[in-house]
Formats: sequence, structure tokens, C-alpha cells
Amino acid sequence: MNAANGLESARSLLHFRVRVLIHHEETPGGYHRCMFSYRHAFHAGNHADVLKHTVLLAVLRHLTQKDAALTVFDTHAGAGLYRLDGDYATTSAEAAEGFLKLVAGKLPQPVAPSLQDYLDLVAGFNSKGSHRVYPGSPFIIQRVLADRGRDKLKLFELHPTDTKTLTANIAQLEAGRQVAILREDGFEGIKKFLPPPSRRALVLCDPSYELKTDYARVADMVADALQRFATGTYAVWYPIIPRPEAHDLPRKLKTLANKAGKPWLNATLTVKSSKLLKDDEGDVVRPGLPASGMFIINPPHTLKTALKDALPQMVALLKQDSNATSSLDSGS
Ligand SMILES: C[S@@+](CC[C@H](N)C(=O)[O-])C[C@H]1O[C@@H](n2cnc3c(N)ncnc32)[C@H](O)[C@@H]1O
Repeated sequence: MNAANGLESARSLLHFRVRVLIHHEETPGGYHRCMFSYRHAFHAGNHADVLKHTVLLAVLRHLTQKDAALTVFDTHAGAGLYRLDGDYATTSAEAAEGFLKLVAGKLPQPVAPSLQDYLDLVAGFNSKGSHRVYPGSPFIIQRVLADRGRDKLKLFELHPTDTKTLTANIAQLEAGRQVAILREDGFEGIKKFLPPPSRRALVLCDPSYELKTDYARVADMVADALQRFATGTYAVWYPIIPRPEAHDLPRKLKTLANKAGKPWLNATLTVKSSKLLKDDEGDVVRPGLPASGMFIINPPHTLKTALKDALPQMVALLKQDSNATSSLDSGS
């Protein structure tokens, strides 16, 4: 690890009291390079994270209204915490078109409560007025569960470097046995935990989809999980890109929910066109991720209302061209 670059001064984050650990080296050997070229640090705080984390937080808020114990599974956890001014984030500049654009823009008044809740939660990881630290799903979830002693959080992460970073980041929370990190395949590893003893669970499934097979693995995992534990809440993030597997995934999830007789909700956010562009030299330029969705099976009954005003506000703040839009569908 490059300590000079990787360690945030704890003093500058006094109220948060954890340091963002960023491992710069790759562990040689032991994993398939192609499979693990994805690093969420490049994408942290992008428009897809804004959608995913706002929806995740709204789901968690509802599920934690009851005192009964809850287990949350994050099948693809990532490193947990990110520096938006670190090498990875500044290389891709994706946060500049996502979270940083939100906070730089003129927020509508009133801000939709679920969007404001997300903004407040991220602000809680930073000193006043600063936007350097961005929490990934493990830290968002842990923050909501922190005062609920009976709840559990199980984090799956397969990348050796991200697992190490995640472990070091989580260790600073001193969360004890509430949080477990498993260096396992999340698609497979989840099986042995369902149904959980708490009989109340949220499963976040957020793969990188770098491997084409991820799309089918998500659908298989959800099908299996619904058989083991039909009343769990399942939240799947997916990219909306011109690729048949990506196009089919929400349709497959809808079919699975309908077959199981369970309600579902599908929220999407598009920030720009997916058309390939040409640069001044006439070379094709890939537009980057134009849109993504969150598909929830057994969503809280409050979720649709919570997102109804937040999604159009995200569109207004994050739009990159006239194709920007959002959608919110549900069924039961
Ligand atoms: C999109 S990122 C996760 C981001 C995180 N959920 C968040 O919102 O902050 C996907 C992560 O899954 C990891 N990964 C890839 N395949 C995996 C697998 N089969 N099981 C568990 N983790 C995997 C990658 O290393 C990467 O860190």
C-alpha cells in the first residue's frame, strides 16, 4: 500500500473518525486478471451510485423502522469507502458527473426527502463543506444499522485488494460481530445464509457486469434465493446499455417476481444517450454508462412514494443531454 497517498488524516475527519484506506498495489497471482480488472474506486460516486445508494437507503430506512432483527447481505461489496480526490476517482472523473454534480448544482426546493437523506448521509462522512469521502454500500448500510445491536451485515468481496481494503476500513468501525467480511463468490456464498435466523433480510446484489455471465448469474441467484427465502427483499443494480443480456435482466427479474407471486419495483435513471459518438478525428467514442436501474423484489410499500419526487430531481441535476429521463414501475 502506498501509505502517503492512501491514508486520510484522521484529524481532518474528526467527527467520522475513520480513515479511508486505499490500496494501490495489485496482489500478484491467485486471481484471473480479466475477471478482476473492475475496481469500483474508478466509478465511486457516479450517477449509478447516486441512484443505487438513494434507493438502498430508502429501503433500509423502511426496514429499520421495526425493532425486529434484520440481516443485510451485500453480495458484491467493493472497498467500502472511497476518496473522490484520490488517483482512481480523478482518473475517471465519474463522480464529477454524479455525486459531485449534485452537490455543486442548485438543489430544487424542497429537495425530495429520500434524496436529501442520501445527501445528508454522505455529508456525515465528510467535514463540513468537503466532499472528499464517498461511502460505498457497506458503509451506507453499516451507518443505518450501527445502533441496532441485533442486526447483522454480511459483506462478500472477491477481489483480493478490495477485500484487504474493505477489511481495514471496516476494522476502524469496531463494529465487532455485527459485520462479517467474506472473501467468497457472493452469488454462491449467499445460499448458505438463506433463510437467515432473523427471518428479515435485505440482499443487495451489485456486480460489476464485466463478465457477460454476471447477468445470468444474477437471475439464477435471485431465482434460488426466492425458493429458499421468498419473503426477503432483493435489490439488484443493473446497467442499461445496448447489450441483449443487460436488456433482458430486468425482464427476467420481473418474471421471477411474478412467478413467485411477489411485488416488485423498477427504478431507472438515464443521464444521456447511449449512441456511440465520433470525435474530431472521426474515431468512435464510447459514451460511458448512460443509464442504470435498481430492481427490487418485495420492496417496502413506502418505496414508490419515496422515489417519486427524487428521480425527476436526479434527472434535472445530473442530465448530460436531452435524453435524460427516469422511470418508476411496479407490479404485484
Ligand atoms: C460494483 S462493485 C460494488 C460496489 C458496492 N456495492 C457499492 O455500492 O459501493 C462490484 C464489486 O464486486 C466484486 N466482485 C466481482 N465478482 C464478484 C463475486 N463473484 N463475488 C463477490 N464479489 C465480486 C468486484 O471486485 C467489485 O469490487
